[in-house]
Amino acid sequence: MRVEHLTKVYDSGSRSQVKAVDDVTFHCEPGEIFGLLGPNGAGKTTALRCISTLLKPTSGTVRVGEFNVLEHEKEIRARIGFLTSEMKLDGFFTPDYLMGYFGRLNRMSRKEIEARKEILYDELRMEEFIHRKIEKLSTGMKQKTAIAISLVHDPEIIVFDEPTNGLDVITSRAVTDFLGKQARQGKTVVVSTHNMSVAEKLCDRFGILVRGSIMDMGALEEVLKRNSADSLEDVFFGYILPAGEDDR
Ligand SMILES: Nc1ncnc2c1ncn2[C@@H]1O[C@H](COP(=O)(O)OP(=O)(O)OP(=O)(O)O)[C@@H](O)[C@H]1O
Ligand SMILES: [Mg+2]
Repeated sequence: MRVEHLTKVYDSGSRSQVKAVDDVTFHCEPGEIFGLLGPNGAGKTTALRCISTLLKPTSGTVRVGEFNVLEHEKEIRARIGFLTSEMKLDGFFTPDYLMGYFGRLNRMSRKEIEARKEILYDELRMEEFIHRKIEKLSTGMKQKTAIAISLVHDPEIIVFDEPTNGLDVITSRAVTDFLGKQARQGKTVVVSTHNMSVAEKLCDRFGILVRGSIMDMGALEEVLKRNSADSLEDVFFGYILPAGEDDR
């Protein structure tokens, strides 16, 4: 997948415009995990929404093989599994019901849905709660459910916005292990996070996104060396302006 000069300007009223994503370029190959690392308001969710065709870029594009988000929305959507915390699951239904529902929406046969359920329930250790109403699930259980639903159609590209937010270390590890395994199976994985340790452990390469722009990009070793830093946290702070200077 190639993200090329992606820019998104939000128009909020006649005078106020927010350039949430500013000329972002990166690529992520099959088998690789790319992380967009940035503080609150950096533009991570906006960038990932553009990649997933839920938002139209102001300029720039995203390419998946021969397809691009401007002309081939449907084809790209079919190939991407998108997870975001903004997606609220209806509390009345059970994970198992929703898996079937979203499977059918993706035009999967009953047999395909059942096979996929089996794999995802096992990988994410969901068996215990698949028949419980969403409203009765814990945060981690809900997150696993959202992950399973976003991947019901077995997409080749996985785009996850803050997949470990709000999770304890055990569930967080289960999710990152799962993503690692997906990459090893040849999937293209793009995640956003503001969690340094998740980025360090999970991502093969990452881009540091601050105020909509990529400040640096590469593998951990490269980025540390280039910034003469011992940790990602040092690199991160080096790019963030002191409080008060952020006028967005
Ligand atoms: N629908 C919208 N309309 C106008 N401005 C928006 C909209 N959504 C986001 N923004 C602005 O765009 C910028 C980037 O927001 P975004 O949600 O992409 O950041 P983020 O990196 O995902 O932050 P967080 O870590 O808090 O989730 C912010 O300045 C935000 O106020
Ligand atoms: Mg966000």
